[in-house]
Amino acid sequence: MAAFVIDGKVIAAKVRADVAADVARLKEQHGFVPGLAVVLVGEDPASKVYVRNKAQQTVECGMQSFEFKLAEDTPEEEVLELVRKLNADPAVNGILVQMPLPKHMDSNKVLELIDPLKDVDGFHPMNVGRLSIGERALAPCTPVGSVILARSFKDDLSGLNAVVVGRSNIVGKPMAQLLLRENCTVTIAHSRTKDLPDVVREADLVVAAIGKPEFVKGGWIKPGAIVIDVGINRVLKEDGKGKIVGDVEYAAAAQVAGAITPVPGGVGPMTIACLLKNTVEAALMQRG
Ligand code: GUN
Repeated sequence: MAAFVIDGKVIAAKVRADVAADVARLKEQHGFVPGLAVVLVGEDPASKVYVRNKAQQTVECGMQSFEFKLAEDTPEEEVLELVRKLNADPAVNGILVQMPLPKHMDSNKVLELIDPLKDVDGFHPMNVGRLSIGERALAPCTPVGSVILARSFKDDLSGLNAVVVGRSNIVGKPMAQLLLRENCTVTIAHSRTKDLPDVVREADLVVAAIGKPEFVKGGWIKPGAIVIDVGINRVLKEDGKGKIVGDVEYAAAAQVAGAITPVPGGVGPMTIACLLKNTVEAALMQRG
């Protein structure tokens, strides 16, 4: 039987509607409007699109959006000074510095300067640590969105064998932490894992975040498994046109899985929705 297709666009719209309702309540009850600051350094075209979409959706949810666009050759110290200013600004509840930064900057130095309570990306070591010891923390948006998608199909993930393919700091590692919090039995697999197909075959829940087009084959998927595909890869079709595919061989996997996220239209739309959710969460944490 063909898998249930988990519609990320519909679920992201629901997350945004919940955020808008929370924002309206904060405004009505406390006269307070959360604000999100986004810092873009340079001219990377993909980053510019992300930043524009973030700003638009922030305003649509009723929040304040602050955008800072700096030239590619801005000195690192100027970016650090801007982060210090945003840390101190009470109108700013969330700070996101768009990655990648230009090569002459030390990304970790910039990210580690962000106030952990305003770190809506969940990249600061303080939030990474808090997440790993089960404390209240801001967690990275893509893994948070992936858990919401999995739970939209099966609310209780407790006891599932979850295999995360990929060990990045932005997706793989925090994903594993969030699935542990959902009481899954978690395996992190990666490019050096031995017998990867057999490891994936044990999974009731597969999260593919390895950044290689259609790397996880349909034949590796356990019948009935939930498949969350985090990959976004641009490939050339035979006719020379470009198309976007995930990290999972979708057509084959969809014949075997119980549920699967498409690419595009699965995890992608969840990332910004969860950033907005994190901004409200950050504002509430700052208010105590
Ligand atoms: N660049 C691409 N995605 C992201 C993201 O989620 N956060 C940041 N800071 N930069 C990105």
